[in-house]
Order: sequence, then structure tokens, then C-alpha cells
Amino acid sequence: MSQPRNAFYAQSGGVTAVINATAAGVIETAAKHRRHIGRLYAGRDGIVGALTEDLIDLSAESRATLRGLRYTPAGAFGSARFKLKGLDQNRAEYERLIEVFRAHDIGYFFYNGGNDSMDTALKVSQLGAELGYPVTCVGIPKTVDNDLPLTDCCPGFGSVAKYVAVSTREAALDVASMARTSTKVFVLEVMGRHAGWIAAAGGLAGEKAGDPPQVILFPEITFDEPAFLFKVKQSVENNGYCVIVVSEGVKGPDGKFLAEAGTRDAFGHAQLGGVGPVIANLVKEKLGYKYHWAVADYLQRAARHIASKTDVEQAWAVGKAAVEYAVRGMNAVMPAIVRTSSRPYRWKIEPAALTDVANVEKKVPRNYITADGFGITKAARTYLQPLILGEDYPPYENGLPAYVRIRGKAVKKRLKTQFKL
Ligand code: F6P
Repeated sequence: MSQPRNAFYAQSGGVTAVINATAAGVIETAAKHRRHIGRLYAGRDGIVGALTEDLIDLSAESRATLRGLRYTPAGAFGSARFKLKGLDQNRAEYERLIEVFRAHDIGYFFYNGGNDSMDTALKVSQLGAELGYPVTCVGIPKTVDNDLPLTDCCPGFGSVAKYVAVSTREAALDVASMARTSTKVFVLEVMGRHAGWIAAAGGLAGEKAGDPPQVILFPEITFDEPAFLFKVKQSVENNGYCVIVVSEGVKGPDGKFLAEAGTRDAFGHAQLGGVGPVIANLVKEKLGYKYHWAVADYLQRAARHIASKTDVEQAWAVGKAAVEYAVRGMNAVMPAIVRTSSRPYRWKIEPAALTDVANVEKKVPRNYITADGFGITKAARTYLQPLILGEDYPPYENGLPAYVRIRGKAVKKRLKTQFKL
């Protein structure tokens, strides 16, 4: 039996309501595998913590804090949008990572993120082998955008989907009550980047034809202004009001986002946001209806109070599976959620190769969107419905959720060299 080696866990990219449940799954499972995993460290601000040798000593956290991670939203250790470029373009960053891993005897790397992070985990596994310092790298899925391939869904999505469906249903009741003499159109902007999964989830708010939301705008469907305005007018004439869910990633016929903030993140992604008011103004200008709009923004991905129980359970399960794969020596894999039945929803976890996952974006298929491009089909409902099932309320104190904050004790640095970001 070889000596146990230490493990490093990092959160990456946009955070979710349940990413800390995954961390809890990793932490609790690692504790059961002490013959393989010695100490478990977390990166302060994700991979940046590894590059700057800023590791968090998880053994210094209280049991209560570690237990509380399961119901605390956002990234407890800090997340980062920091892209490690290709090996040939920026070998120094990968070498630094391996140098830090070597200094702390890290033999297991758990990278909890989306498409780009799967690519990084894959590259680290390749370079470690090349530099004679093998590291077992396991990517752990997470993204509210739900755009990773080979997994039924991505932890984080089910909870955003539930928040958006619940909020759409509630706001629709509000606008319906005001419509005769006041607001006729309500617009909710949701996240999702190039994939319309979150927008599609808004469709769960309605159950039969004509129910709100009457219009969903997907990034997968090119925005058609006349068809959109006709649909809104028709809804107001038939129902008295119209509820619109719009994805931040909707593009016009010119291929440009309807709203782009003009900034880009470290991955080169355009910062999106602001399409809600653009759509609302268009309605006012062309149809004259009074409107309200809301941008769900961080509210949607931080909404742990209304998280989906299914999502929380899946988030925890992928963390657990990641550790089990690692101690079995499975390298460059990602625990994927496999649906075995929709009604009742049944799922299991199986490994997927990182080479098949990295940098692939899964969009909403055309058969999930109605022929007119403004709604979801039965097939979409069958897929989406189980993902929002169940509630998993956090404990409350003084009327507010009692979330935890980590102590964040730093591991003593062992390297003399510093790394400039
Ligand atoms: O990638 C997940 C996501 O929530 C996207 O839906 C959204 O466009 C983006 O993150 C926002 O990222 P940030 O918080 O870095 O601006």
C-alpha cells in the first residue's frame, strides 16, 4: 500500500446555489478514504489559490461549518474566472501549478467547474504525467448554464430552473392582477449564456396553452422582431397581459447579442446582461404597453432558499463520486449524471472522459422548442420537470437563512518563489 497523498479542491467560474454541496460531498468522502487521501486543501479563489500557493487548510474548519456547506450558496472558498491557456502558449502557469502540487504533495486535483475547467483539469493531468509528477485529475460538473455534454444535467441548473419557474409564476399573477388598468407586460431576463436551458425552465411556470410565460426568447432561435411583437400583441389581446422570459444570450439576425455589456472575462466570453430592458423598451415603443422588467442576475444563481432538492442531492453525489473515482486511480474523468427514468426520475452517476467533455457546449435541442420558437414542448417538460423537484430549505435564524462562512486558515507556504497573476 502506497503512502496517502494530499488532495486539492478548487471552485471555478460562475458559482451556484449548490456548488458548496459538492464541496461537502468531496470533503465528507475524502475523510472516509484516509488511506489514500492525507490532507484536503481548497484553493482560495479557485485555481488562483493554487498558482499563488494560497491553500486553505480544511482541517481547521469546524464540523458545523463543514456541515453547513451543504445548504450555503455561492463559492465558500472563492471561485475564479482565470483561464489557463494552451500548454504551448503558457506552459509556465501549468509548471507553476505542478510546482505547488509537488511542494504540498498533492496527488489528487478536483476541479469543480464548467466547460473551460474540464479542459484545464485535462491539461493538468497531461502535463503532470509529462513532468514526471502524476496527478489524478477529476473534473466535477457545475454550471447553471447546463451546457456540459454527457451528463443529464449540471449541478446548479436545477435550482436556477426552480427559482426562475417559481418567480415567473409569481410575477405572472402580479401582472395579471394589474393588467386592466396598469402594467400589461412583464419581462424577466435570465442567465445561460449561449444556451437557453434556464429560459426554457421559465416555461415550467405554465401548464397549458396560453398560460404565462406566453413568450420565451431563446439564444438558439434568432430574434425575429415582427414575429415577437405579433405574439406579444396577441397575448395582451387574448389574456390581458403578456409575460416574457428572455435569455441573456439572445442574438439578432446580424449574429450579435441584443445586449452585450462590452466587456469580456478572462476566457474571452462577452459579459452579457441588459437584454431585459431592451426587450421591454421595444414593446413600449412599438406597441405602447406599460411594462415592468427584472434581471434575475445573481439572485437566480444564489437562491439557495428555494433550491431544488434533486439538484442538491446530485451536487453532493458528484462530489462523492469524484473522490471515489480518484482513489480508484481513475484519471481525467468527470462524474456524469445519467438519467435512467423520467417518471419517476431516476439517475445514477457514471464516469465520462474529460477529452469528450472539455470545451463542448450542449444547447437546447430544436425539438424542445415549439414550432413558433416562443415556447417549450412536451419533450422539454419531460426533461426539465424532474430537475426542479423537491425542496431543501436551509435552516433559518431570526427570519433569515443561517448560512456559514469558512474560517479560511492558510496552509503554510513552502515555496520561496512568488507567482504574479
Ligand atoms: O457561466 C455561468 C454564468 O452564470 C452565466 O450564465 C453568466 O453569463 C455568467 O456566469 C456571469 O458571470 P460573471 O459572474 O463572471 O459575470
